[in-house]
Amino acid sequence: MEYNKEMNASNILNVSNYIVKNPTQYKGKWNKFFNNNNPIHIELGMGRGNFIIGMAKAYPKINFIGIELNESQTAYAAGRLVGQNLPNLKMICMNANDLYLVFGKEVDTIYLTFSEPWPKKIDESKRFTHVNYLKTYDRIFKKNKHIIMKTDNKGLFAYSLESLSQYWYSFKRVSLDLHHEEEPIPNSNILTDFEANYQKEGNKPIYYVDAVYED
Ligand SMILES: C[S@@+](CC[C@H](N)C(=O)[O-])C[C@H]1O[C@@H](n2cnc3c(N)ncnc32)[C@H](O)[C@@H]1O
Repeated sequence: MEYNKEMNASNILNVSNYIVKNPTQYKGKWNKFFNNNNPIHIELGMGRGNFIIGMAKAYPKINFIGIELNESQTAYAAGRLVGQNLPNLKMICMNANDLYLVFGKEVDTIYLTFSEPWPKKIDESKRFTHVNYLKTYDRIFKKNKHIIMKTDNKGLFAYSLESLSQYWYSFKRVSLDLHHEEEPIPNSNILTDFEANYQKEGNKPIYYVDAVYED
């Protein structure tokens, strides 16, 4: 069963076992919640969830949590999981601004996938790679910081490389054309919904960065 317009998003959010309803109660306890010591990876703005579902299937020894602000998108993602058994995947409908209320220092990797570019200067602080967000991520990363970003937006990408490097991240891998690299980039075959649609439009490049800050 897939979520469709006739179904009520909030009903799906209420009944799906993949949705965590009161996530703040698990702050600092997500490994206990998953009942293992596996790494925790989160995706911000997962949309309809294709990427995080694909990652959870590919990596059963990693715990994945998809974060999404929009109820309908979250419900669509959860609806895709009906009848599937993925104990390493959960989803939360929340604003990424509040990440620090939900996570202690326990996150290993953050994925930023086709995030809103917020091109106007006045909206700069809403970009997921704005320094305020980078400071929020500091509060939830376990030890080393690890951000993987992919986007079709050149402006957001350039901004993010600058913002990340000014915040002392270094880049393990950068691509100006993710899907046409001679040496394939890990997991580049696991597409987001936006990415899959974007690819259908033609041979447009997707920008990618794997950024780390290691103590
Ligand atoms: C362009 S869509 C990309 C969705 C998905 N990552 C993909 O590639 O298919 C951006 C998503 O980020 C979500 N979003 C925007 N701001 C957010 C915030 N502050 N917290 C959580 N999600 C947010 C939007 O609701 C939207 O679903």
